[in-house]
Amino acid sequence: MKLEASLTADNINQKLLSIEYAVRGPILQRAQQIERELQKGVPKPFPRVVRANIGDCHALGQKPFTFIRQVLALAACPEMASAAVPEDVQQRVREILEDCTQGSVGAYSPSGGLALVRRRVAEFLAARDGVPASADDIHLGSGASDVIKAVLTMFAEQVDGKPSAVMIPVPQYPLFSGTLSELGLVRADYQLDEERAWALQPSELERAHAAASQHARVRAIVVINPGNPTGQVLTRENIEEVIKFAYQHDLFIMADEVYQENIVSKPFHSFKKVMHEMGGPYAGMELASFVTCSKGWAAECGLRAGFVELLRLAPRVLAAFRAARAVMQCPSVLGQCVLDCVMKRPAPGEPSYAQFAAELAAVRRVLAERTATAYHTFNSIPGYFCNPIDGSMFAYPRVDIPERAQEAARDLGLSPDEFYCLRLLEETGVCVIPGTGFGQRAGTFHFRTTILHPRDEFQHMMDCFRRFHLDFLEKYS
Ligand SMILES: Cc1ncc(COP(=O)(O)O)c(C=O)c1O
Repeated sequence: MKLEASLTADNINQKLLSIEYAVRGPILQRAQQIERELQKGVPKPFPRVVRANIGDCHALGQKPFTFIRQVLALAACPEMASAAVPEDVQQRVREILEDCTQGSVGAYSPSGGLALVRRRVAEFLAARDGVPASADDIHLGSGASDVIKAVLTMFAEQVDGKPSAVMIPVPQYPLFSGTLSELGLVRADYQLDEERAWALQPSELERAHAAASQHARVRAIVVINPGNPTGQVLTRENIEEVIKFAYQHDLFIMADEVYQENIVSKPFHSFKKVMHEMGGPYAGMELASFVTCSKGWAAECGLRAGFVELLRLAPRVLAAFRAARAVMQCPSVLGQCVLDCVMKRPAPGEPSYAQFAAELAAVRRVLAERTATAYHTFNSIPGYFCNPIDGSMFAYPRVDIPERAQEAARDLGLSPDEFYCLRLLEETGVCVIPGTGFGQRAGTFHFRTTILHPRDEFQHMMDCFRRFHLDFLEKYS
């Protein structure tokens, strides 16, 4: 006898049904299917799939930093200590294990994270900003996603009979749209200005706020700086404008600053520093700022480590946040070891420094080279436009899609950019994500591609974009 399922699409939490996360969506599923077909010998016009759907540097071939992996190995297995392990690695592991219950990374840590690591985060932030930072304001998480969701959860409450809304950029990283859906929060989209290098326009912030305020209570604003998928780095003036806007409208600022170490040449201004320097009431505003080990030079996505710095929360709010975090026990302690290494890297004169510096220089070189090549290549393809890529690890070019191709897409029930990315995948094996997954101004079409592949693979991908687009134009113009 077949048992009836007790959990059905009708009685599941309905909010889950509306979550979309394009980065691992239908295009990736088709790419995986194609990979299986290739393995079975199904003929294709390309020998392999090139995955450019997700910002995962190690998956694209970046080698782990030796120092980090030596610390991890020794922290997991202290018995392996020997003269062959550099002394600074051994010293780091001794410090970490001293802070672990019974000297084991297998024991739970405090729910906010090991005291040592939170202290190291505070030291890093104070040095970055020249503004004091306290370990008490630091809350570690299993990646930034974990703590972003934890902070958004605090807004999941009606106010004066209205649902709460959170302002998010468009284009945006779909963790935000997906989590807002899951929590039943209203999305208040504000458009980034593609014609002004994806800047935030105060007039657009006002428009979005007014529109959402008709049916919801707007309570927070998310800013992603550097941008994903857009790759811009905000100017200090633009950040000041956002802070003033948030102050005028009594909004809580959520600064997603996870790509702060993935910047090619512009200066990075943290929201915390700018608020502090603006002084007056701005220096007293609440702030949540997010950092992760998945990005930056370490890019240890799989080890799931990040943190939020939460500033100036009301004591009862902070207590509730801590209680909610405590229920989840703690983030991975091995992940916390990575964070410790990222916050306090080998210093000149230490045994691991020379190798660390060489590995860091290589990672920075790749980012500078790929951002420049992607920008020039895309802008040299007819019908493509790409803003300068100042940071992050993506390009988000705009593509003109001929009317006939748009009709073909509609016939298949796809948006034009989905159709474009699907055809690109089927004809070249290159897997990128359509702009629909991030958001774009109506009538414009984009895709997001990661750009940190090894040089040959990257060049192959760039050649594919050009060849495919010219064929596509010929077919549909
Ligand atoms: C803008 C942005 N924020 C947050 C995250 C979350 O990263 P993680 O949870 O791996 O730390 C990502 C991941 O790609 C991202 O691009």
